[in-house]
Amino acid sequence: MAGAAIEIKGVEKKFGEVAAVAGLDLTVGEGDFVALLGPSGCGKTTTLRMIAGLEHPTAGDILVKGRRVNDVPVHKRNFGMVFQNLALFPHKTVFDNIAFGLKYRNVAKADVVRRVKTALDVVRLPRMEERLPAQLSGGQQQRVAVARAIVIEPDLLLFDEPLSALDAGLREEMRFELKRIQRNLGITTVFVTHDQAEALSMADKVVVMQNGKMEQEGTPDEVYSRPTSEFVARFFGQVNELTGKVVGRRDGIVDVVLGDGATVQVAHEGPVGDTLRLLLRSERVRVGKPGTAEPGASIVKGVVTSSDYLGLMVRYVVNAAGIELAVMQPKLGPLLATGEQVDLSIQPSAWMLLG
Ligand SMILES: Nc1ncnc2c1ncn2[C@@H]1O[C@H](COP(=O)(O)OP(=O)(O)OP(=O)(O)O)[C@@H](O)[C@H]1O
Ligand SMILES: [Mg+2]
Repeated sequence: MAGAAIEIKGVEKKFGEVAAVAGLDLTVGEGDFVALLGPSGCGKTTTLRMIAGLEHPTAGDILVKGRRVNDVPVHKRNFGMVFQNLALFPHKTVFDNIAFGLKYRNVAKADVVRRVKTALDVVRLPRMEERLPAQLSGGQQQRVAVARAIVIEPDLLLFDEPLSALDAGLREEMRFELKRIQRNLGITTVFVTHDQAEALSMADKVVVMQNGKMEQEGTPDEVYSRPTSEFVARFFGQVNELTGKVVGRRDGIVDVVLGDGATVQVAHEGPVGDTLRLLLRSERVRVGKPGTAEPGASIVKGVVTSSDYLGLMVRYVVNAAGIELAVMQPKLGPLLATGEQVDLSIQPSAWMLLG
């Protein structure tokens, strides 16, 4: 396993009475791409700014490559940073924007030219040196900001919602692009976002934060599929909540009777007689005409009460198992009609149980 590039130990940041960060422990491995994810005001930017040295912790320690950096000033920390508002200099050319960070590093003129060219190649903007920011598209400006961050050959790349100003299509394209650049360069990266899809699609490790603390950390699949709290479960989309009683068990599967008497299989170890609180993501349920259930799934009968056509996906509400259940699925055939009898299929592994 790679060593730790960043260690955050019991870090707290108070602004007067407000604890923006309230006891955070976090380790970022060498070369890792870590996403800090959470709702507005949970302390993501403050955490990033403390790593950068733009804010100082009121308690705890920050170590970069094993060295305590609490008191190391910004200009002595070798990181590249990209913010939401790119802050390119509007009157400087692309070349001068990117070369800016090299100016104070005593880099020879010929090397500056070479390194700016390499950075532009990495972000796939070759031969754009002489343009002004206003002569570039939003996505191209974003790439210049990334080129400016990587040209200094930083130990760390810090991103604060760098894609949120872009439109949806470009944002998605830039996700892959940033990920590609990071992987090729192998630079340890901390990426702040409140966009779940962005965090899940880009990061090796996702850190979900709430109220200045870490709620859960794990691989994208761990935080999505095995949330340890209701907050994390609900953060990644619409979740149905059901209760049921265990009536049978065998090899890691329990039979659970739901509100209206329907029985489902749930991947779980636990004694007969237990009452379970079950969470189910809307996209982990399949709905179709009777007889179309997936193999291996439990079937719950229901009636469609509404449908919203969203283009790629359809959101149904189905009256089943004694509740109104939200179902999100790709539009596979004709829309199911309101009032139609349907089968829901739910795999045993689809249920989430909180301890
Ligand atoms: N300079 C400051 N002075 C006072 N309070 C601050 C300051 N900076 C941040 N805060 C407060 O600290 C908390 C965390 O702010 P922070 O900017 O870290 O949140 P965030 O997770 O980045 O949110 P967003 O997603 O909205 O950017 C908020 O309650 C915020 O109001
Ligand atoms: Mg922020």
